[in-house]
This record gives sequence, structure tokens and C-alpha cells, in this order.
Amino acid sequence: MGVIAVFFCRFFGVLEMGSGILQSGFSSINSSEPNHLSSAGAAASQRNIFESVLQKPTIFKDRNAITPHFTPASLPFREKQISEISTVLATALQEKKSDNLFVYGKVGTGKTCTVKFVMQQFEEFSMQSNGKAETVYINCRTHNSKYKVLLSALRKFFPDENFMGFSSSFVLEKLLDYCNKQKKHLIIALDEIDKVKDLDELVYSLTRANDELSAGSVSVLGISNNVLFKERLDSRTKSALCEHEMVFPPYNAKELRQILLERMPLAFKEGAVEEAAINLASAIAARESGDARTAVMLLLRAGELAEKNNSPKISDLDIVKAKRQVEEEIIFSMISTLPLQEQLVLFSISSLSVNKKGIKRITGLEENVLFSGDVYDEYVRVASSLKESVVSARWYREFISELETYGLIVTTQSGKGIRGSTRLIKLAYDSEKIFEAMKKELFK
Ligand SMILES: Nc1ncnc2c1ncn2[C@@H]1O[C@H](COP(=O)(O)OP(=O)(O)OP(=O)(O)O)[C@@H](O)[C@H]1O
Ligand SMILES: [Mg+2]
Repeated sequence: MGVIAVFFCRFFGVLEMGSGILQSGFSSINSSEPNHLSSAGAAASQRNIFESVLQKPTIFKDRNAITPHFTPASLPFREKQISEISTVLATALQEKKSDNLFVYGKVGTGKTCTVKFVMQQFEEFSMQSNGKAETVYINCRTHNSKYKVLLSALRKFFPDENFMGFSSSFVLEKLLDYCNKQKKHLIIALDEIDKVKDLDELVYSLTRANDELSAGSVSVLGISNNVLFKERLDSRTKSALCEHEMVFPPYNAKELRQILLERMPLAFKEGAVEEAAINLASAIAARESGDARTAVMLLLRAGELAEKNNSPKISDLDIVKAKRQVEEEIIFSMISTLPLQEQLVLFSISSLSVNKKGIKRITGLEENVLFSGDVYDEYVRVASSLKESVVSARWYREFISELETYGLIVTTQSGKGIRGSTRLIKLAYDSEKIFEAMKKELFK
């Protein structure tokens, strides 16, 4: 910004001076000269709109470094995970098939950045040795089917060819052929693996592929924040995928504080963040779910707020103000990553809540408290109207537990006398906002 600002200052400074000379020069030659010249001069003497934008003082040194997509070079409190993942993957660097690995943990526990960091180091090491091992990272939120995953993997090795439209088996054959001919040991990292619709088939194809390869191998590194997802897998897929398993625990406030302290000098100018702001951001993020993304986002949004108010520093008050916005951003991003069936259950809860279909106050309970059975009926109605399959009551109860784990709903057991003993459900956030956002998403 500094260099650009100086450039703009100098450039426009010169323009302004020059236009003055030009104008006076012309007017002395012909004082009745037409307006277009004088209006051009006037325009040039006006400040360019970008001049003021770029000259505005900023508290950011590198805004990108405080966004959730940034992969820092150092990952405190993940040394154990880094070492475990690299131990599993190292086999591929010894020209042998590495075991499949499944990594899970709640949101913002550093799964993506840790795996990316290890893969980066892996590639570096492989290039320096014989280059026989390679990695490919795929986010299954975008590549959410066996075909899309295979296509995306193949694109990395054949960037100039277009395989779009070829059959899934052709794409798989091509990938295996590459491993075979080049004797490559391939690690395919599938982030948000729970989003792959035909995951059983994908894992089966990739696992079986190793029996067909005479040289090289393919291994899968699966990542998910959906803790119960593993339990839902076909038993063959589960045992194939989970040869090794690793859980990423949530961070505590002290750890989050340290993570923010290390990030601060990369993202902000010196002295731009008050200590109280760091402490509060880490305390909030730890209380919410031990999520480093919340902590990072709180600082980012608080920084933007401080800047908007022309404040030279981020204070704890800015963090308080940023909390609501960040909460919403995180909730909506979390909802968008839920499996479809859980989205349908959540949508049904929000729909009943906005339509005030909860238990009447007569029972002494709040209006938006819902009977589990009513939610299930609404879910069946919603799923059918969208022509989606309907899960059994047993799976529905699993989904309710999972939504509660994510903090999106709270449940409690009703006392005797209210429809026998049933589970009561309440949305943890603004039902109108969730209902409107999900309606757009589901019924688009
Ligand atoms: N140990 C750490 N040190 C520094 N930054 C971290 C650490 N762990 C997480 N972060 C930061 O927190 C943010 C979220 O991390 P990441 O995306 O890896 O979480 P995740 O576990 O993959 O979450 P999700 O399940 O939602 O995908 C990123 O900005 C990342 O840089
Ligand atoms: Mg992630």
C-alpha cells in the first residue's frame, strides 16, 4: 500500500502541477479557447477518487494473513498431529503405499491448514529426492461426487488436457495409468469428505485400484468435521478409510491467544491491536467451541470496524461489536456445509419456529420449544416436497444429536405429563434469519 500510495501521490501531484502549466500556457495563447480544454484541465486538477481511498491510513499490514484461508508457516499446538500425519505419509516417500488416514475434529481445529502444511512439506521433500511421490488436495464441498473428485485429481497431472465428458471409469483408468507408468505413489487428500455423494464407490474404486497397479499406489487422506459421519459409512468403506484415525481437539483460550499473538505481526501494523482485544477474542472463541477460525475472524472484522471508524487501534470494544457479525458468518457457513439431510431437519425446526408451531405457553414452556415428533413430521413433509429420501426415526435422532453438538439447537427431555416423556427442541439462533437463509438455499 505504501509504495502504491507514494506512486499515486507522485503521479497525481505531477499531473496537477502539469495541468496548471498547460492551462495557463493555452489561455495566454488564446484566451477564448474552447471549453473542452479548460474542462479537461479542471478534471485533471480534481483529486482522483482512488487517491483518497489508497491514501487512507490502514491498520492492516497484510489483510490476507488474518483471513481464514491463510495457511501460516507455523502451527502452534499441532506439532503432535503434524508428526503423526507425516509418519503415515512418509511411507509413500519410501516408494511404498502409505496407509489411508482419516482426520476429524470440530470446526476450526486446524485440520485443513495442518494437512496443507504437511502436504507442502511432503511435495518439497519429494521434489528434492526422486519425485516419485505426489499429493493432490481436493475440497469435496465443490467436488462432491466420485466423478468430480477423480476429474479434479487428474487435472493436476494433465493440466493442459480436458477430460470433461469422459466416463468415470476412463478418468480412473487414466489416473491409474499415470501412477503405473510413472511409478508414482499418490496421496489424495479429500477435505470435507462427507460431502461426496457416492463416497462408498469412490473409496472402493481407489482402494481396489491398488490391486491392479503393478507399480505406484494410491492412498486417501480423508478430512471431516462431521463427527458422526464415520459411523454412517458402509463397513467396508469405513475399514478401508480408517486404517489410521486422528482427532483434532478444540483449542483452549490460552492456545487461541498464542495463535493470535503469532498471527498479529503478520497481519497488523505494530501497536494496532490492544492486548485486551486479543484476550477477549480468544476467550470468546474458546467459549464458543475452541475454534481458531472464530478467533481469526473476530480480529479481522474488528480490524475492519476500527478502520471504518478511523481508529488507529483495535480495542476490546471492537471485538464485542464484531462478535455478532462473526457469529452469523460462522453459523451460515456451518449450515451450508451440513449434509443435506441435516439441513432438512434444521430447516424444519426453523420453519416450525417462525410459524409459531411450538408448545403453547399453557404448558409453562416457551413458544419456540418444539416436540421432537412434530419436527420429524415436518421434516418428512419438507423432504418429500423436495423429492429427497426420508430417513428413519433412528437416523433422525442421530441428526438431532449432531445439530446439538454443533450448537445449532438445544434439546432437553420433557418432564412426565407432556406427551409422555419426549425430547424438546429449540433453535439456538434467530429462527427468522435461519429460515430465510435456508429457504433460499434449499428451494433455489
Ligand atoms: N494451530 C494453528 N496455528 C495457527 N493458526 C491456526 C491453527 N489452527 C487453526 N488456525 C487458523 O484457524 C483457521 C481455521 O483453520 P482450519 O481451516 O484449518 O480449520 P478446520 O479444522 O479445517 O475447520 P473446518 O472443519 O471448518 O474445515 C485458519 O485461519 C487457520 O489459519
Ligand atoms: Mg477445513
